[in-house]
Parts: sequence; C-alpha cells; structure tokens
Amino acid sequence: MQRVQNIRKVTRLETKLSKIIKKQGAIPLDQYMAIVVDYYYQHHAKIGKKRGDFITSPEISPIFGATIANWLVRTWEEAGKPVFNLIEAGGGNGTLMHDILRFSENNHELHQALSEVYMIESSQKLQGVQKKTLEPMNNKVKWIERLDDYEPNRFTVILSNEFFDALPIKQYVRKNGQVYETCITHRDGKLDFGIMPSIANYMPNISEKLEDGEMLECSPAAQGMAQHMATVIKEHGGVMLVVDYGFEDGNKVFSLQAIRDHQKVSFFHMVGQSDITAHVDFSALAFACRSEGLENVVITSQGDFLLANGIEHISQRLFSHLGPNYKGIKALERLTGDEHMGKLFKVLTAYT
Ligand SMILES: C[S@@+](CC[C@H](N)C(=O)[O-])C[C@H]1O[C@@H](n2cnc3c(N)ncnc32)[C@H](O)[C@@H]1O
Repeated sequence: MQRVQNIRKVTRLETKLSKIIKKQGAIPLDQYMAIVVDYYYQHHAKIGKKRGDFITSPEISPIFGATIANWLVRTWEEAGKPVFNLIEAGGGNGTLMHDILRFSENNHELHQALSEVYMIESSQKLQGVQKKTLEPMNNKVKWIERLDDYEPNRFTVILSNEFFDALPIKQYVRKNGQVYETCITHRDGKLDFGIMPSIANYMPNISEKLEDGEMLECSPAAQGMAQHMATVIKEHGGVMLVVDYGFEDGNKVFSLQAIRDHQKVSFFHMVGQSDITAHVDFSALAFACRSEGLENVVITSQGDFLLANGIEHISQRLFSHLGPNYKGIKALERLTGDEHMGKLFKVLTAYT
C-alpha cells in the first residue's frame, strides 16, 4: 500500500516572506497578518458553502440579512426616521447588503430616506463579486477601499459581519519578567512563531496584566477602526453594528486560526491561500467607542440579538410553506444555538 505523505506546499507568498525575513529579520505578528490577509482577499478569497474556504452567517441563510434589515428599520424609526447613509465594511460576496436592501424594500419610507450606500472593501476581487451581487438592487451603491474615503455628511449606519476578525492582532508574552511580542521568523527552512522585544506597546500596564509565561492578544488595528467608525457616527449621528466571533473580557488564549476548504489547518499551511483570523476583543471595541463619546454601547450574543430582532418569525414567514422539514430550522439553530454560532458570536451596537 502506498503511504500518503503530508507534503507541505510552499506558496509564492511564503517564499517571498521567507526571503524578506531572512534578509531583515523577524517581523511582528500583526505585520505578517496584515500582509497575508490582504494577499488572501486580493487573490484567493472564496466565501460560501460549496466552493468556499469558509461560510458566514449571510451565506448560511437569508434569514440573517432579513433580521438585520428588521433591526435597521427599528433603529431608524427610533432615531426619528432621518435621511441616512448605510455603510458595510468588508462585505465579502455582498450577500448581507443584498438581503438587507431586499428585505427592507417594502418599507418605502425607509428607502426614500436611504440616501447613499457604501461598501468598504479593500479587495478588488471581492469588489467585483459585490458589484455583481448588488447590480440589480440599487444604483445608490458606491465602493470605497477604506473608511478614510467616506465624508460623513449625515446620519450614518455602519455595519460589519466577520470584518474585525480579519484585522491584524498583536500577542504579548511575558518571560522572566520581560514583555515580548510574537513575531514570525524563519527556522529550519520554514516560517515559524518566535518572540521579539516589543516594538510598540499598545496596552497600558501590560506587565501588570501578565503573569510570567502568560500571553495576551490585542488588536490596535481593530481598536483604531472602531474608533474611526465612532468618530463618523459622532459627527452627524448614527449607529454602528459589529457582528463577529470573540470574547468580552480579555483574551489570554491563543485564538489565531487558519481555515481552508472548510477545514482548520495549521497557521502556516498554504500561506496566503488559507484564511487567517483571530477572535475579536469586544470589550476593546466598546472602550474605543466610548472613548470617542458614544454613550450607548451594548454587547449581546448573536443568538440573543437575532431572537430579539425577530429571526424566528422571519424564518417561519420565509420557509414555513416548505413544510415541517424546511431548511430554515437548521439555519435558525445554526445562527442562534449556543453550541453553534449563537454564543461564540457577539453583536456590538453603539450610538451617541
Ligand atoms: C471574513 S470576510 C467577511 C465577509 C462578509 N462580511 C460575510 O459575512 O460574508 C472579510 C471581509 O473583509 C474584507 N477586508 C479584510 N480586511 C479589510 C480591510 N483592511 N479593509 C477593508 N476590507 C477588508 C475582506 O476583503 C472581506 O470582504
């Protein structure tokens, strides 16, 4: 019988990064993650059930987008029905925005009040996919690569689903009383984790937060992004909604992961062709929002949020004609169940 060998394929990006590291020395984890995530989304990103690397809530079922549309209608009504702009950061295939616009389209008042729709998307590849998905929907949609390109001019609703988990993180570790950070180095002919003296400390009193041998993750990029979103909202009013998987109370767990073809793979497997992410620190996002003057900041579990915004009713309305085995039941359980996405995924809402 032929033995199956676990052949490790070295990608072009890995070769390039290895050369850089051999020449210049190890690079901090967040720099590595920014390069690899950007490369993945520019060249390889595949989101979805059949031919994707991973599946997200909007791709699981339209009941997710319909429930977010329900939340949007309520939020907009509570705000006094202002003329508003709608932004989605990191829209993937464009499915969530498609479903929100579709399921709110009967609300003529809301659609009259919806002035401009922006998709913030750094990947040209995914911008192309989103343009196809959203083409039949709305001529109001514009694409920008970063939030800096948005000029706040009115009440703004900013949404994101599984966007923050793609932003780079740092890991701080304490060894013999000294604080270091995780870096990526080249060892025994391949990329590997290492530690280096911390070049920028983004966490105040870090050494007090860590016992010897402990590790703590944080994302200056995610905090900066939340702060920026909050300043936009603060200027003319608005709300932000962040859906992602993560934790609320400081993370001393190694949460980096790589996914390819719906399988968890090693962090250095097919560098640039596997999706790498980390858990989102929701308390850090909440802190960033409050520091910019947003007073109403709430974090809930995805399960509680979706149930409070009518997902059961929506699921019945959309699928009950298909009989008792309708696939909506499975999707509902997957999106809201504690043992599925209901608990691990969190929702942050923030407004002035
Ligand atoms: C995990 S996908 C989520 C896709 C989609 N929201 C969904 O739920 O299916 C992450 C998305 O964020 C985008 N993205 C990642 N980093 C970004 C950045 N720095 N700026 C803008 N978009 C980014 C990716 O291109 C992709 O569209």
